[in-house]
Amino acid sequence: MDESGGEKKTPPTDVNKDSEMGRRDFLRVVVTVGTVGTIIGVAGLLTDYLTFIPQPNVTLVWPKAKIANISALQDLKPVNFFYPLTNEPNILVKLGVKAENGIGPSEDIVAFSLICQHLGCIYAFVPEGASPVCNSSYKMPVDGGYCCCHGSHYDFTKEGAVIGGPAPRPVPMVQLELDQATGDIYATSMGPPSIFGHNTGATAAAQVLAADMTGGSVITNTVSVTSTQATSGTSTASGSTSSGA
Ligand code: FES
Repeated sequence: MDESGGEKKTPPTDVNKDSEMGRRDFLRVVVTVGTVGTIIGVAGLLTDYLTFIPQPNVTLVWPKAKIANISALQDLKPVNFFYPLTNEPNILVKLGVKAENGIGPSEDIVAFSLICQHLGCIYAFVPEGASPVCNSSYKMPVDGGYCCCHGSHYDFTKEGAVIGGPAPRPVPMVQLELDQATGDIYATSMGPPSIFGHNTGATAAAQVLAADMTGGSVITNTVSVTSTQATSGTSTASGSTSSGA
């Protein structure tokens, strides 16, 4: 009690003062940290916005390219052409006998990648009963391809199936389309597996498309027809990049 009879107030001690200041400092720190965090967050969003580069919406599609007219084809006289890239050699041949996935009135026109699936040499077409230039003692049992590098051979009547040698997989078959009105023959895509040197061995359609369409320039309109036949079967395909083992 004080002299007036009232309650005597206790003056604030140093301890209370320190406590009050501590709270204020703490609040000040909290507010400061929050503000800095907000500024950093906004700056980050602004940076993202300013540096955002829209990506082009690229959709890969097979080119459609004219190879030949059916009226110009003769049985067992191959035509070489490039597809789907300008550095990817293929062979088209009218076998004269029905083939799996063949086109034309006799379903005997087929086309395949000319790059051997073993190690990437260019092989040659050899008709049934004939011998490859590098192996005169061997007679081809079917119309097909023979690679003189290590002896792989492929059956053109069975979608390029391996029938001998070290090749681990068939040669890719070029998918063909015949315009019934004009007789023009078009390459429209490549069947699996992927062409040697392009992610070798891919078989899913999307993977084959992505693999085969990289590593060169895509063919446009009419494919360039080079000659009538690959003969030596000993050169290595240009553009091949993997061992294919
Ligand atoms: S590259 Fe063709 S058999 Fe080896």
